[in-house]
Parts: sequence; structure tokens; C-alpha cells
Amino acid sequence: MIQRDIYSSYYEYNSLDELPENDKTLVQKAMKACKNAYAPYSGFSVGAALELSNNVIIEGSNQENSAYPSGLCAERVALFAAGSSYPEIPATSLAIAAFSNGSYTSTPVKPCGSCLQVLAETEQRYNTEVRVILYGEQSIYLLEGVKNLLPMAFIKSEFFVKRG
Ligand code: THU
Repeated sequence: MIQRDIYSSYYEYNSLDELPENDKTLVQKAMKACKNAYAPYSGFSVGAALELSNNVIIEGSNQENSAYPSGLCAERVALFAAGSSYPEIPATSLAIAAFSNGSYTSTPVKPCGSCLQVLAETEQRYNTEVRVILYGEQSIYLLEGVKNLLPMAFIKSEFFVKRG
């Protein structure tokens, strides 16, 4: 376990074979999902695999658009597909991988701020932490919960804080 700073800690692995079997399978699905990315503008293909508590695995990949902001990241494609098909079932783990210029990234790929925001609300909605596994060919990070990536998330309860 690496404590990077007071907010973030994670496990680091140097190869897929060091991961627990379930996590290894999830990462492999994320790697495979990169192939379904539609990323003609960035050339950066991202794959996500989201495991639910009923053991269903939902895959997602980034889907770009010539009107750039209309595209969506792999993580949110998977998270929204899960919410849409299994609204009652919590997500438990999310693996992410990215492929660019003929190989997977050597360092772990991190979710963007918007995906972290959706992940934070997913945890809150189901009252279940989501383990996050970030794949890179040289190192793989495993984080126990989104708090390690987004410590001061804006969450729904903020709406109900008395103002003034
Ligand atoms: N992207 C993802 O799908 N997930 C990430 O974690 C980072 C970025 C996508 C968005 C865009 O299609 C491409 O990667 C380049 O930013």
C-alpha cells in the first residue's frame, strides 16, 4: 500500500499476474473494450469494465464526436449503461485501460474529473464504495474507493446545506 499524500492511497502492481484473479479478469475486459472505442479525433482509445454486485460486467469505451463536447468517456459510458440496465444494483469495481499509438499506456490511465464526479455519486447512490483499477503496462494502481481520487467531492447532500 502506497500512501501518496494525506488524501490518496493505493496498491501498486507491476504486472497483471500480481492482481487478484477477479481484478485481472476485469482489467482484461477493459483492455478488450478499448477495441470498441470510437476515437478518430484523439487516437486515444479507452476501455472500461464495471463490475456490479450481481457479478454482471458492463463494458464501455470512449465515443467521440466531431462536435467534441458531445463525445463521452469510456467510464461514463459504462456507468450510465449500468444505471440504465441495472438501476437497483451497486457497482463494486471499475477497471480502466487505454490504447494509443499501437500500445497500451505504460502508466496507469486516470479518470477525468467529470467521470470522477459520476463515480462519486454512484458510490453515494448505492452506499457502496467502488474499487478502481487503473491499468498501465509498467504499473497498475488499485484504489479502494473514489475518495482516493476525489477527496472533496460535491455530493447530493450539498444541495440541502442551509445557505446564508
Ligand atoms: N477519455 C476517456 O474515455 N477516459 C479517461 O479516463 C480519459 C479520457 C477519452 C476522452 C477522449 O475521447 C479521449 O479519451 C482523449 O481525451
